[in-house]
Amino acid sequence: MCGIIGYCGHRPAVPVILEGLRRLEYRGYDSAGVAFLQHGELHVVRAQGKLANLEKRLEGQNVFQATSGIGHTRWATHGLPIEKNAHPHTDGAKRLAVIHNGIIENYQEIKNELMAEGCAFASDTDTEVLAHLLARAIDKGLPMDQAMSETLGRVEGAYALAVVSLDTPGVIHAARKSSPLVLGVGVGENFLASDIPAFLPYTRDVVFLEDGEMVRIDAASWRVMDVATLAPIEKEIKHITWDVSAAQKGGFKHFMLKEIFEQPKVIADCLAGRVDVAAGRAVLPELAGLPTPERLFIVACGTSFHAGLWGMYLLEQWAGVPTRVEVASEFRYREPVLQPGDVVLAISQSGETADTLAGMRLARQRGAKVIGLCNVVGSSVARESDVVISTQAGPEISVASTKAMCSQLTVLTLLALCLGEATGKISRQDRIDCLTSLEKLPSVLEAELPRMRERAMDLAKTYSEVSSFLYLGRGPYYPLALEGALKLKEISYIHAEGYAAGEMKHGPIALIDPRFPTFALAPMDELFPKVKSNLEEVQARGGKIIALTHPGADMRVDHIWETPKAWGPLSTFLMLPALQMFAYEMADYLGKDVDQPRNLAKSVTVE
Ligand code: F6R
Repeated sequence: MCGIIGYCGHRPAVPVILEGLRRLEYRGYDSAGVAFLQHGELHVVRAQGKLANLEKRLEGQNVFQATSGIGHTRWATHGLPIEKNAHPHTDGAKRLAVIHNGIIENYQEIKNELMAEGCAFASDTDTEVLAHLLARAIDKGLPMDQAMSETLGRVEGAYALAVVSLDTPGVIHAARKSSPLVLGVGVGENFLASDIPAFLPYTRDVVFLEDGEMVRIDAASWRVMDVATLAPIEKEIKHITWDVSAAQKGGFKHFMLKEIFEQPKVIADCLAGRVDVAAGRAVLPELAGLPTPERLFIVACGTSFHAGLWGMYLLEQWAGVPTRVEVASEFRYREPVLQPGDVVLAISQSGETADTLAGMRLARQRGAKVIGLCNVVGSSVARESDVVISTQAGPEISVASTKAMCSQLTVLTLLALCLGEATGKISRQDRIDCLTSLEKLPSVLEAELPRMRERAMDLAKTYSEVSSFLYLGRGPYYPLALEGALKLKEISYIHAEGYAAGEMKHGPIALIDPRFPTFALAPMDELFPKVKSNLEEVQARGGKIIALTHPGADMRVDHIWETPKAWGPLSTFLMLPALQMFAYEMADYLGKDVDQPRNLAKSVTVE
């Protein structure tokens, strides 16, 4: 998730921008840059890596005359995290500079068209098309407002962007669609940013911009208009009372909770440009040239392993590809028998987990092709895979992985559909139904999350005294049971076991008593009667039960927790956040440090 800041005022702009970027550092980034107008020239300074590198570049340069400018911290989605891909991006004649947060879905089509007309590109980013399109509109004689409107009318996808131009010195134009952008209203100065902390030391008066809105700021004024019609829009100024740390978390108490709430957007971002519903097609161009695997080995650790295990059910059922899922720390130390035609799928949020990396290196040495499913562009997994599919979840700050798993499940669904289309195992109608349901998930989940939180809070109060929990599930909900248990132990330090519901009677049932509750995943699918009968066995031993199920489920347990039903196994996307939320609320109720569980580091790069 990139960070954006824009400043127009009476102070030297560059220090204000750098300070703002520093306050956005928590969002994660891999390069940074600024653009400002000084002595009638457009200056763009960028650097790979941390802000200190950018500051070094600016050292010794006289940058104190500029009183307006823009700055950006980039989290790579298209193109490696290197200087040429850092923002701001300019048009060929360097008359304007653009910073952008989001994904332009149809950038390749626009880029091809512009290149055919002789336009030269200096980066591998989707953002650069915006700079060239804007310059062309201005060349046609359009004023900046109209040039923005025309350009944004051409692009599909998500954006928050800000532009400075030699044609409009002292002015910033910005717009948003599905990516955050806020306006800070000061005295003799105005700000734009992707998040409030960027300008909080200067003003607490904020205007929240909505999708489809464009804003023009200078030092003395600001104006919001409809991006399509340019009609003025009246906006209310809100006064913020949060401190910086609360503001960085978007008002949420912890990053983990914020990231749980980000999941609707994560699904939407992951699907962007990858879905053709009418054709019943999941579009993963990354796979072009890779034959359908004869056997697939999924290698991962922790939550990513659970995502892989879930993917196995879909890959086998929809695509008929024999799939085996292994924890990377086992795979790497045994003698896996790999044959020509085998493919290894390495799943890793960070792309730096030592065991996963070792597993994929072993697979490559043995001649298998490796697909990396990874969230950090330019990470070791991404660099060393034959094919990389980016999960596009944005940086994960909380140590407990939540939104990353959601993005991994989304991509695995698309992968299973893609391979299923290739093998012909899943029907076109099922693919259409699946994609239709997938596209609806973000709005369904968005509406559901606040309710889910309330329920999780109530249940956390009820169960805060227990010292053990059993999680049960069948089919694709078995990996979810494992994940629910992992989350609970990881952040609340309550012992939890995840089990295949049908396996419970083979031993663990001995543990059940009124002090050892069960959290059951009981979706209304073909395995529902089986889960129900497992739960009767629990009840026979006096065990308390929370059942996560669908509306109308016929069951008598201590707590029924209904979540909306989606197509086939996609109900997973509406149950996973409930598990995460329950673990979060248990931990919070018990006063644990949710974002930094003890003994855990964000990226397990050491052995
Ligand atoms: C659990 C968690 C870990 C990671 C695991 C793999 O909340 O965060 O279990 O999932 O360490 O990390 P990645 O996906 O970065 O390889």
